[in-house]
Formats: sequence, C-alpha cells, structure tokens
Amino acid sequence: MPEMIANQAMPPSDYVRIFDTTLRDGEQSPGATMTSSEKLEIALALAKLGVDVIETGFPAASPDDLLAVQTIAERVGAAAVPGRPAPTPPIICALARATKVDIDKAWEGVARAAHPRIHTFLATSDIHLKHKLRMTRAEVLDRVRAMVAYARDLCADVEFSPEDAGRSEPEFLYQVLEAAIAAGATTLNIPDTVGYTIPSEFGALIAGIRKNVAGIDRAIVSVHCHNDLGLATANALEGIRAGARQAEVTINGIGERAGNTALEEIVMALATRRAVFGLRTGIDTTQIATVSRLVSAATGFNVQPNKAIVGANAFAHESGIHQDGMLKHQETYEIMRPEMVGVTQTRLVLGKHSGRHALRNRLEELGYHLDEAQLAAAFASFKALADKKKHVTDPDIEAIVSTTRAQA
Ligand code: KIV
Ligand code: ZN
Repeated sequence: MPEMIANQAMPPSDYVRIFDTTLRDGEQSPGATMTSSEKLEIALALAKLGVDVIETGFPAASPDDLLAVQTIAERVGAAAVPGRPAPTPPIICALARATKVDIDKAWEGVARAAHPRIHTFLATSDIHLKHKLRMTRAEVLDRVRAMVAYARDLCADVEFSPEDAGRSEPEFLYQVLEAAIAAGATTLNIPDTVGYTIPSEFGALIAGIRKNVAGIDRAIVSVHCHNDLGLATANALEGIRAGARQAEVTINGIGERAGNTALEEIVMALATRRAVFGLRTGIDTTQIATVSRLVSAATGFNVQPNKAIVGANAFAHESGIHQDGMLKHQETYEIMRPEMVGVTQTRLVLGKHSGRHALRNRLEELGYHLDEAQLAAAFASFKALADKKKHVTDPDIEAIVSTTRAQA
C-alpha cells in the first residue's frame, strides 16, 4: 500500500500530488455528461484510489453542478473514506472564473469538506486577452490580485491557474504568478490549455517559473496538460522533472477535445521508472482498472483497445514470437505486471499470428494433453481457422481437438 501524504500544506519534495479532474475537465468532453449519482460513485472510487485532490465541478455552471459538488464535499470529503490508503479524506476542489459570483458559488460547493479548495483561473495569453477577455495586462494583474485575495478570505487553500499559460509570454506570466502568490494562492497550476507545447518547451516553462517567480517556494507548482498533439503525458512528466509537484489528470485521459493527461499514465510512469524520476504518489495502483471501467460506463466513452495501461490490449499478446517470449518469461514483453493495475492476468490471444507454443499452452490450460502428432494436426487446423477469423476462441479449440482425435 502506498504511503499517502494527503492535505499537508507542503508535502515532502519527492511526493507528487495527484489532482483528479475527471468530474470537471473530464466532464467537459463533448458527450461525457454524468448524473449526480454517477459523480458521487466516481468520487468515492477516486478517494479509494488515493487521489490527493478531487476537482468535483464548476458550481457556477448550473444548480445541478453545485449540488453534485456539495454532495461530494459532504459524502466523500468530510470524513475518512473506507478503503482509502490514507486516514484523511481528499481535498475537495471546485472551479471558479476570477469573479466574486463564481468564487462564492465554488465556496458554497466545497465549504463542508474537511479540506476544501477553491480553484480560480484567468487567461494570460495575448490571444485570450485580446479576443476573449478584452482586458489589458494591467487589468488582468489587478483582477488576479483581487480575486485570489477574495477566495483566500473564504478558504485557506486557493489554487490559481493562468489559463493558456503554454502560449503566454513568460515575463508577464511570472508577474501574474507573483501577484497570485502575494495574494495568498497556495497552488499555482500551469495549464497548457490547448495542448500546444512540446515536452522540452513545457519543461522549460516550469523551470523558468521556478527560477524567476518571487515567493514560488511558498506554493506548489502544478501541471495541467491537454492532448491536442498527443503530448499531454510527456509534457506533464517534463513539468514534473522540472519541479512541479502536482499533476492534474483524468481517468482514461478524458477531457476537452483530445483530452487531458491520463491519471493511469502519469502514475504508472512514475512508478515503473521510479529509478529515473525518484518520485512517488499516494495512488493504490491496483484500483486503476476498476476506476477506469467505472468512468467508461458512466460517460459512455469506450476505452480504445490500445490505450496505455487500461486498454483491453495493454496486457494482451497475439504474435507467436511475443507469446513464446511471454511463456518463457513475463519481462520479455511486459514492463509492469497486470496485477499492479488491477488486471487479473496477461492474455495470450490466439489468432493468425500465434505460434505452436501458445496453442499448446492454451490446450494444456483447457486440460488437453496432445501427443506431438496430434499437436501438429491441431496446429494445422488452428492456422487454417485463424486465417478466416480475428480470434480463435476456446470453443473453437475444443472443436479442433475433437476433430483431431476423431481423425487419429
Ligand atoms: O485547460 C485549462 O486551462 C483548464 C483551466 C481551467 C485550469 O482546464
Ligand atoms: Zn483543462
């Protein structure tokens, strides 16, 4: 069981907080709307998984969203959660634009949690300032100061995000972040809102922030990456290598457009390559498959078969060479044990690429011990059948055995 360091203002330097935003940014995926009871069920599962922070919603968006946030704050965030790898409940967070109305609503949502957090954001890129906000840089700075301070008067734990940080001018970004820290922000989240950056740039952005922002040591730096170029996990890992100690993620990587950094990918990259990163999380990785299925069922979003960690093929092997290797030693073609992520076992799928060794193995698992001549005949029938269909199933194999034996 991992050792969780939940809720400390400043966790140890080798601990990466996992901030799950499946219920907020994940739900913003077109078509992913969840009911309040599905959200509650997912929040409970996330607490058991061991996430440090659950972003539960955007209460200003609708009365229903507010209610879902309040319910989770009371039912998941107020007392110890059975099965959670830490005695303390997770931090319960809600999102707010940088306005008093939104911040008040977010506070109404999370106030009853034992560890509430308000997350407020304002864009800092020139594109957003000019075309969306129609604000000057000076106005943005004033608004950040005022709204972070306003949120901090309500709540001791305030996160600030400069939206579209990935395309913001670094010097201005540093000024905004300094203003947020001075006004009381405890976490500074750096979003690559449109998934524009590449890993070397995003890592350099985080390193620049850590070097140039006065007072940065008083806050936790967080990464929040989108997957428009398929780089969300790589970018987040580079940010972590550059000193970020919170990763904002979603289950199965769901989220706006191409999605967000996937929780399972960050957690398993940090765990599998611990020697490289020297970092840990509080996640009970054996829960990953269960939570992935739950989110897929609630959103109606199927997980692609080749999705890292949680796809149906993530621990499946069809080619003869790979199956032969796997039957000799698991480490030949797997870098983690399926049980580590809650998958019961590696699957050797029988199809046209499979070899004799894999067929014999499956026959023996099914209780058939054929002599060499019978095996050769069964293998020939198996290959003929495998050319005609995607997978050869156990009933197919049983039929092949009966025919082979009848002909012997
Ligand atoms: O992608 C983004 O910029 C966001 C912020 C609200 C953090 O989701
Ligand atoms: Zn986002």
